[in-house]
Amino acid sequence: MRMVDLIAAKRDGDTHSTKELEWLIDGVQRDQVPDYQLAAWLMAVLWRGMSEREATDLTRALIRSGQVLDMHSVAPFLVDKHSTGGVGDKTSLVVAPLVAAAGLPVVKMSGRGLGYTGGTLDKLESIPGFNVSLTVQELTLLVRKHGIAIIGQTAELAPADGKLYALRDVTATVPSLPLIASSIMSKKIASGADAIVLDVKVGRGAFMETVEQAKALAELMIRIGTGLGKQVTAVLADMNQPLGCAVGNALEVVEAVSTLQGHGPADFSEHCLVVASEMLMLGRLADTPDKARHILLDIISRGQALDKFAEWIAAQQGDARIAEQPGLLPRAPVIADLEAPVAGYVTGVDAREVGLVAGALGAGRERKGQHVDPAVGLVMHVKIGQLVRQGEPLVQIHARSQEAVREAKQRLADAITLGAESVQPPPTIYAVIRG
Ligand code: URA
Repeated sequence: MRMVDLIAAKRDGDTHSTKELEWLIDGVQRDQVPDYQLAAWLMAVLWRGMSEREATDLTRALIRSGQVLDMHSVAPFLVDKHSTGGVGDKTSLVVAPLVAAAGLPVVKMSGRGLGYTGGTLDKLESIPGFNVSLTVQELTLLVRKHGIAIIGQTAELAPADGKLYALRDVTATVPSLPLIASSIMSKKIASGADAIVLDVKVGRGAFMETVEQAKALAELMIRIGTGLGKQVTAVLADMNQPLGCAVGNALEVVEAVSTLQGHGPADFSEHCLVVASEMLMLGRLADTPDKARHILLDIISRGQALDKFAEWIAAQQGDARIAEQPGLLPRAPVIADLEAPVAGYVTGVDAREVGLVAGALGAGRERKGQHVDPAVGLVMHVKIGQLVRQGEPLVQIHARSQEAVREAKQRLADAITLGAESVQPPPTIYAVIRG
């Protein structure tokens, strides 16, 4: 086989065979395909697309490029969740202990934040002492003992995807449905999941800006997962405005704790209940969403969700006292409010810009490997559709300096729009698609 023939075939809209895709990914993994040819092929895929069979073959080949984690000795059936990324998305911090408290083991490999989106590992590392770097043996022990662990990637999972993604990033070929779907599904399946709940975000602060695009991505991921023997459910969730109120690492941990106590923001609490309910259903702990929700609300009201959170934090060497005393988390030296310049209805809260402002305060990173500040960030006081009075706080800014506060205020004043007419708030969940 020759790479130039595969590029020409894709350029002309032909489909690749299973063998051709295996050969290509094997070549990528062995560094035998030069970047200029791979980049040309990626662009041809972006324009011409892939059939469902090709996308499934590509996913399988990516999985085979590395190790597949097998935790079945301690967790016979593993249900994972994956978010396509958003602003204020601290769902895993709530859903993991909640579902584990219900008796479904949770083993998650999470990532770090990049660009305007946050990452679960950065949020967890804002808890003093929390260790995300465990070996597979340590992970196994934790899951056996506590039924929960969230760590950074240990094994070499789908390494060819890492190479493809790095090239996609610099060749404007990220936004291709089969490339995104195979990239996400290969990593999830390689991390050992039997079933997966995909939290597909839609809107200004997401990859997919329309419900139609998000639905197409979700359906393709479901078909790939099903084709590879996994059960997959997708939740299409709004990301036009930040999820919940807190955006920033330690601030999001505080909000996760209050949600586990049953006092979280309404949209975020609802989002967590929907995702966790779908996980319980995939794990056969409930057969309807209503029954699953009933189990979860009961666990929260009995304090078992928060207890499991504290047990998990302690098991990963974090300071579990934060579950009762969030004041022990890092706190920014300067805290100031942005106030409403006029009275009116909130007509927009630009999630992407809010994420970028939190990043500029130090909560995020522009390049891999950059240090993040655990203490800084934003607490949004308003949601789309809300009526505010003049002078009412719109956002609380947690910063390192007055200068940083001034800059954040200027940008946030444009990101939050007020109008005379009331607007319909976006739904928290657009749809649940069960594979
Ligand atoms: N997340 C991934 O892991 N891969 C993509 O291609 C896009 C988002």
